[in-house]
Amino acid sequence: MSKFIIKGGKRLEGEVKISGSKNAALPIIAATILNSGKTTLYNVPNIKDVQTMYKILKEIGAKVVQKNNKVIIDTSKIHRYEIPEELMRKMRSSVILAGAIIGKYKKAKFTYPGGCEIGSRPIDLHLKGFEKLGISIKEEYGEIICEADKIVGTQINLDFPSVGATENIILASCLGDGITVITNAAKEPEIEDLCKFLNKMGAKIKGIGTDRIEINGVKALKDVSYNIMPDRIEAGTYLIAGAITGGNIRIVNANPNHIEPILNKLEEVNCKINIEKSTIELVAPKRVKSIDIKTMPYPGFPTDMQSVFATLLTTAKGTSIVTENIFESRYKYIQELNRMGAKIKVEGRNAIIKGTKKIQAANVIATDLRGGAAMVIEALVAKGITQIDNADYILRGYDNMEGKLRMLGAQIFLELD
Ligand code: EPZ
Repeated sequence: MSKFIIKGGKRLEGEVKISGSKNAALPIIAATILNSGKTTLYNVPNIKDVQTMYKILKEIGAKVVQKNNKVIIDTSKIHRYEIPEELMRKMRSSVILAGAIIGKYKKAKFTYPGGCEIGSRPIDLHLKGFEKLGISIKEEYGEIICEADKIVGTQINLDFPSVGATENIILASCLGDGITVITNAAKEPEIEDLCKFLNKMGAKIKGIGTDRIEINGVKALKDVSYNIMPDRIEAGTYLIAGAITGGNIRIVNANPNHIEPILNKLEEVNCKINIEKSTIELVAPKRVKSIDIKTMPYPGFPTDMQSVFATLLTTAKGTSIVTENIFESRYKYIQELNRMGAKIKVEGRNAIIKGTKKIQAANVIATDLRGGAAMVIEALVAKGITQIDNADYILRGYDNMEGKLRMLGAQIFLELD
């Protein structure tokens, strides 16, 4: 596994360009199956999870030609309808392909994605939605086999505003008969980007960005090109890298509207934020103030920013409480931060963080994507040289993190295995 080596203590300054959104790119790449033709995508992040999606598409018969952040996907010759088990296990979010494959071919075979580092990741809401659309679901020998003579529009109320379930139901119903209405739908900006992409291909989706999404099934979709939205979690991550080092940084190509909850919290801890269109400047105080954070579905504070913001609070003046309301075990990274001198105690859904100025380098092991990012952030202020193993987790979701942090003055390098 690769590792990051980071010498802490540098105040970050300068400008960094935000890449395309991982969590918008993944469902949009899956959605290219629906037009069974050629789709050109721009501003696609060059990260491992996107490479895994390309691999699965090629396995089922698509042609994928990638050039840096541009990709041309030809899905006209797809001839298989199953998602390989090892890739389902490798990347839970590949379950999003199921909705697209079923929506186009009325059949799909896949396995349970299995739990991961942040929780059990059930897909009951996905499957319940499929059944309501008239899709029969059989489970045998660990496989889930979905089939439908036709997909009929219906009313689906989600018990929880699940991002993946909302996306999968939209994908499965785009080419169905009649109207599907999803209530209590997730409202994350990545879903908005997926719906805008689908409508550009000729889908008929209303209520975009709201918790009531209406999909009017159409006969076919057409070839288009599309520009993926910027990654709001990457933007938040670099802002916090600037904040924890008492720095002054600018992030460009961001969408400030998508990260309002993060910007509000950064101002609460006494960072100065200045927004000029798609550029956000942050000027950090010498030491941030402690505050409380609760993760919530969008437009609340994003769970994907929990670990990184908690890391900022490990150096704050005073004690903070972070409450993780979305995933049941998204605190695995904390034991690693405590090895670096952080003072965090986990009690159920709460992490109680006593701020300290004594963060020291250590050898730590990334536990998951955002937990690994938290360790990078902590290492930026740790005294000494920190080694972060299992860095492949981090490479799943951050495009050229080493190069971007170097641009800001960090002393970091990536040792590939
Ligand atoms: C998406 O995961 C994101 N992944 C996650 O980002 C993000 O943390 C999450 O949404 C919440 O915003 C992608 O978009 C690829 P959910 P998803 O379905 O779709 C429960 C990252 O770091 N649930 O909204 O899996 C589930 O257990 C990743 O980039 C059910 O109970 O999230 C969880 O507790 C991590 N049944 C909660 O809902 C279901 O059928 C939120 O899950 C589905 C979900």
